[in-house]
Amino acid sequence: MSGLIPQNFINDLIESADIVEIIGSRLELKKAGRNFQGLCPFHNEKTPSFSVSPEKQFFHCFGCKESGTALTFLMKYENLDFVEAIEALAKHLGRDLPRERGRRESAPEQTRELLALEAAVQIFKDNLRNSKDAISYLKNRGISGEIARDFGLGYALDEWQHLSSKLEKNGFSVQVLINCGLITTNDRGRHYDRFRGRVTFPIRNIRGKTIGFGGRILRDGAPKYLNSPETKLFSKSNEVYGLFEARRGNQRLDRLILVEGYMDVIALAQHGIRNSVATLGTAVGEDHFRRMYRYSNEIVCCFDGDAAGRSAAFRALEAALPFLDEKKRIHFIFLPDGEDPDSFVNSNGYDRFKELVESSTPGFEYLFSSLGANLDLSLLDDKVALAGLARPLIDRVNSKLARDVLLARLGELTGLDVTKPAPQVGPKQIQVKRDFSQPVQKLSERLAGMLIRRPELLKLLSIQDREAFVALRNESDLLCKVEVIVSRDPDLLSEELISRWPDVGDLDKIVAMANVDELLDKEEQEVQFSEGVSRWLDLRIENAEIEKLKQRINDGTEEKNSK
Ligand code: UTP
Ligand code: MN
Repeated sequence: MSGLIPQNFINDLIESADIVEIIGSRLELKKAGRNFQGLCPFHNEKTPSFSVSPEKQFFHCFGCKESGTALTFLMKYENLDFVEAIEALAKHLGRDLPRERGRRESAPEQTRELLALEAAVQIFKDNLRNSKDAISYLKNRGISGEIARDFGLGYALDEWQHLSSKLEKNGFSVQVLINCGLITTNDRGRHYDRFRGRVTFPIRNIRGKTIGFGGRILRDGAPKYLNSPETKLFSKSNEVYGLFEARRGNQRLDRLILVEGYMDVIALAQHGIRNSVATLGTAVGEDHFRRMYRYSNEIVCCFDGDAAGRSAAFRALEAALPFLDEKKRIHFIFLPDGEDPDSFVNSNGYDRFKELVESSTPGFEYLFSSLGANLDLSLLDDKVALAGLARPLIDRVNSKLARDVLLARLGELTGLDVTKPAPQVGPKQIQVKRDFSQPVQKLSERLAGMLIRRPELLKLLSIQDREAFVALRNESDLLCKVEVIVSRDPDLLSEELISRWPDVGDLDKIVAMANVDELLDKEEQEVQFSEGVSRWLDLRIENAEIEKLKQRINDGTEEKNSK
């Protein structure tokens, strides 16, 4: 998989592929006038609103607004990244992939680590098949073979070097096994398996690659759960367990249910609730929400109904505030004392859990009700107290619209004049304001500049956003042009990007942009870039650009035909 795929080969593939054939071999399509129609695979629907145009070589869903080329379809439908989709398309057409020379190998070490983790999944699965103890443990917890398979459950034998000796025999070095967290070393330099005598839960990234494990001890013992350590591949402040599995069931997740543990996700799935995810032994934080809101607009958080659960819910709400707006929402469920989603759904069943979800408490309502819980708002003093508590929280919300509505509510409750600018509260609470209210064009240039200076930022984008760019491949926006080059090699350096710039016309501009001093620190750049791109893509699509895009693809094919 090394080397660069030449752009003309990619263009040629997209032009040779027949979108009707590619989609038609995966979904049922019926001819409807000049187009084909079917049920959209990207959202739930009963009447077909998914349309494929052979002329334009383009698909579009009038229901969920997904659209794109054969390539985009493959990426979305089969969960492939860009290069994988190109490979699939090439294979389909019986073409060999040419590669340009000169690309640096992309992190071979991390590839080894991924392979080691995948091999471990297989070994753990084999162990499970042969372990009566582990099988009966899972059976007792009500887990079927089907769910165990979907989640790739396995078992780590209660031996010090079972996994490591198998993997070493398969050619994995001790260093690779340490890097991916499968083995640890003691003071005397001896190494041994991290997971022993535990049911194993592979933690998969959004593309389904295993990046770590969780392990639960079979009987009583401490620690009850063990997780992979932080590695280059796995960071528990970012990852949520079950996201890949949830998306595999339904690409359009209208809602995600956030729970606390591996077994909660699995028990819910066992009862047919396939859209839950869990943090990995840590409280839910801003980075988790950033990740989850990329894939779903509504997150329903489950907590205990006790005091600890309520305070955890409030902290979760605080972490989610920056992301909330007219589309993105958070809700809360409080379970009866002593229950977790696993125990609750096992004793009360699907319907009762579903009722809880449907009647969950909306986040902003919860914000005011918990802040006001011990206040008497007929008292001036308590009004002041409420204003003091609510104001810094409202300021965390990035959506101006949402902030305005919340301030109006605060105004009703306290008489506070909401037209005054927010007071400066402690430095920690004031977020850098993410002001993307500039015109679309300016935003695009700002993002292009960031990407020129730090091409690796592209890797931060969600698959959805990367795919959206594929549909914009031939657009002349600077951002699209930069994306085309960087997407072929995300490890590119800024200078290399300039040397590959195809257009003399705006080369000067690119060089100038590369030399602009970035004022934001790295992390803030990352946030602004990934959020800015999502926003820009939304705006562009909302601006009915997609219509123009279809037109251009159409023009493109006519041009070709007339040649
Ligand atoms: P809980 O202690 O609530 O366990 O941990 P649980 O999910 O109900 O587990 P079962 O039902 O007894 O099997 C919730 C989550 O906290 C993390 C794990 O991610 C777990 O899923 N955890 C818990 C740890 O990381 N280590 C521990 O020792 C315990
Ligand atoms: Mn439990």
